[in-house]
This record gives sequence, structure tokens and C-alpha cells, in this order.
Amino acid sequence: MNAVNIGLLGLGTVGKGTATILERNAAEILRRAGVPVRVAGAVVRDVAAAQAWQADAGLSFPITSDGDALVADPDIDIICELVGGEEPALRWTQAALDAGKHVVTANKALIATHGDALFAKARSKGVGLRFEAGVAGGIPVIKALREGLSANRINWLAGIINGTGNFILSEMASHGREFADVLAEAQALGYAEADPTFDVEGIDAAHKLAILASIAFDTTVDFDALHIEGISSIQPEDVAYAAELGYRIKHLGVARRRDAGLELRVHPALIPEKRLLANVDGVMNAVVIHGDAVGPTLHYGPGAGAEPTGSAVVADIIDLVRGGAHPAGAGIDEPKALPVLTSAEFRCPFYLRLEASDRPGVMASVAGIFGDLEISLEAILQKEPSALDESSVPIILLTRDVDEACMRQATTRLEALDDVLSPVVTLRVETLD
Ligand code: NDP
Ligand code: HSE
Repeated sequence: MNAVNIGLLGLGTVGKGTATILERNAAEILRRAGVPVRVAGAVVRDVAAAQAWQADAGLSFPITSDGDALVADPDIDIICELVGGEEPALRWTQAALDAGKHVVTANKALIATHGDALFAKARSKGVGLRFEAGVAGGIPVIKALREGLSANRINWLAGIINGTGNFILSEMASHGREFADVLAEAQALGYAEADPTFDVEGIDAAHKLAILASIAFDTTVDFDALHIEGISSIQPEDVAYAAELGYRIKHLGVARRRDAGLELRVHPALIPEKRLLANVDGVMNAVVIHGDAVGPTLHYGPGAGAEPTGSAVVADIIDLVRGGAHPAGAGIDEPKALPVLTSAEFRCPFYLRLEASDRPGVMASVAGIFGDLEISLEAILQKEPSALDESSVPIILLTRDVDEACMRQATTRLEALDDVLSPVVTLRVETLD
């Protein structure tokens, strides 16, 4: 083979990063791949805008708006699907595999929801379907799970796996910035999804968690079985109270093997500030993977952005050119069916905040409910009344491990007390033990 020809579907944030790396690092890539790897064509909606970028960047390859033609082009060896969303990304990916081409994608939504059928197609055609860029941007976490940790029975993994969400939470916590203002900056920097509710409502992190869990536990994951909460309801006072208690609030994806099945959950959580994960800020991501043989391992790096994500795309291309292991993708030929627990079956410590009348006896009634339900408390704090309303006080509680169904009984009983004046805010605590 004289050269490997790459077809880029999409020349946005990730497509540009990929094209730039392939050009700038062509000599290194040639040494590692054994043959020249070059972009032979790209597809966008706005051809003129892409050509203007290309001229500025000093690159030259044909750019069109005809994805069907690029996918069908017999001169293209590897298709990179960097369009995002479902259609036309799904149709083009299927067509590329059908045409016997390897596919590299950054599209975690596509893999999380259509992965099984796509991997089956790739296997039947004897081609590769790679998706390292889809999870945690530039961190080679898929490679770590599939290769470096493959000797282990994975007990659990937990990670900050959405760069936009972590960027927003970090800026709110350290600079007191407004949610909407930081989200707009994340969009301008190219971190956010085309529909940013995927980032802020936890859907993007859930796509990534579904992919990680399917590899970690050799299973297929029904995306609808995941428990998903986003960051949009986090209040600044909870960030401040958590800090007083020695915790940081992060948006986590957690996959844990329990006796009865898998916990698969995406939600904000208080993490002890001494944990490395609590100190992962900005667009950085980190995933802790706990294997039975190795113990905990931490994988850290940029979770979004043009070249960090392009780095993962190009690494997958090089692997395919070298004929790396697992040519057909996830490498799970016979996935195990594992039950997925409902949120009522989760078990963890909780943080609670409520607003109560500033009267004698209120703390005793609150604490009494936890005593009745045999929920152990780690801490209980009564704060000063606010300057605006001197008749009520915030009460903050931290529990020890408790079944979530039992926690819900506690909040229902708390909210029924006459002296409890607000809905109870509950956040899970993840100690990462
Ligand atoms: P962008 O919106 O920046 O780029 C999308 C590209 O696809 C654009 O070039 C766009 O064309 C093109 N495109 C979209 N629809 C069509 C269509 N119907 N026909 C032809 N071209 C089309 O997205 P990103 O680069 O940010 O994301 C791409 C993928 O990578 C997504 O799956 C995303 O989830 C994933 N990803 C993104 C990361 C990031 O940091 N941004 C990180 C990791 C993964 P035009 O330029 O004309 O609009
Ligand atoms: N929108 C995603 C994020 C891109 O912010 O993490 C990387 O997958």
C-alpha cells in the first residue's frame, strides 16, 4: 500500500483537530504506521467556510457536501465519522462498514445506542470500528480497559467524563461565575455538544458510561437502564456547604458491580476533597478504574477540544493501519447479560439540606426521623439564619451508607414536618473506597 487515505465526515472541532495532527505529525505517523496516512477528502455542510479554514491552516484536500460519495469512494481506506448525532452519521457509518472500510468515530451517542448492531456488522465484514475519542476525549481509557487492564476483574469505575460539565462546575466553584455564562464559553471553545442539554443533563456522560461499563463488565448495556441526573439543579449554597464539610461537588459516572447486579449511574456527587478526582478541574476528565489484581488506577487528561480529541482519533487510525488487536471493535464476542439495578437499590452516603423553622425542638424532630429509620448520621449542622429571613435556618446532614429506598422514606417524612419549610435537597456522596 502506497498510502492510507482517510475520509473525514465532518470538519468541525474534532475534524479540524484530526486533520491538523495528521498534517503536522505526518513524519511521526509514517514511522509508527509504516505508510503515509493522509486526508483524501472531507465532507461538511458549509463547504465555503471549511475551505476558508483550510486555506488559513495551509491544508489541501477536496471538501464537498456529499457524504454518500465519500463513503462509497473506493480510494478511501478509513472513514472518520466526526459529524455527531444520529443521522446521517448512522447511515454513513453503516455504509462505510458495508463497503468494507474501517471506521473511526468520536460519536459516543451512536456507539452507546447502536453499538451492538454496528460491531456485529464490523465483525461480519472483518473491519474495525474504533471509538477511543468518544470517551474522555484525549485520555486513552478504552485502550487501558481493553488492553492494559484486561487481566483484571473490574470491580468498579468512576469518572468525571464530561468536560463541559466539569468546566462549568469548576468555574462556578472557584470564581462564582453564572452557569449560563460558563456554558456559553464552553460552547465557544468547542467543548459542548451540538445540543448542550446533552452535557448539562448528563446524557453525554451516560453515553460514555454505557460504553465503559460494557467493556469493563463484558456486557451489553441498555442505555435506558442507566440512572441519569445532570448538573443544572446544583445550587451555589450546596457547593459552599460541601466545601465546609471537606467535599467538592463533581458530576460523576459510576459503574459498580454489586452482588445483585450493576449500579450504572450518572449524577452530581460530593467527593472528599483529599481524593484526586475531587481536584480534577476545568475541561479535564479523569476515570478511576478498580481492578481486582491491580487495585485502583487513575486515568487523567483533557476531556474535550480539537487536538486532544483528534489525538485519540489519529491513535485509532494508526492502530488500524498497524492491524492492531481487536479489529472489530469492543472485542466482546459473547457479552454476558447482567441485571442493572434501579436507583431504589443503590446504596451510598447522602448529603441533605433543608430549610427549617428556627425554633427549639426542630433538630430533635429531624434527627428522630433518621433514628426511626436506623440511618446513621456522620454530621448534622445548623447554620445561621439568613439576613433576609431570620425565622428559618438551613440544616445540613451527612449520612453514612444507606439504601436509597430508605433515604426516600426519610425525605418524605422530613418534608411532611410542619417545621420543614422547603423541599429537601439530596445529593449522593461518593467516597471512592
Ligand atoms: P462540530 O459541530 O464542531 O462539527 C460537526 C461537523 O460535521 C461540521 O463540520 C459539520 O459541517 C459537519 N456536519 C454536520 N451535519 C452534517 C451533514 N448533515 N452533512 C455534512 N456535514 C455535516 O462537532 P464536533 O467536532 O464538536 O463533534 C463531532 C463528534 O465528536 C460528535 O459526535 C461529538 O460528540 C464528538 N466529540 C466531540 C468532542 C469535542 O471536544 N468537541 C470531544 C469528543 C467527542 P459544518 O462545518 O458545515 O457545520
Ligand atoms: N461535549 C463533550 C464534553 C465532548 O464536554 O465532554 C467530549 O466528549
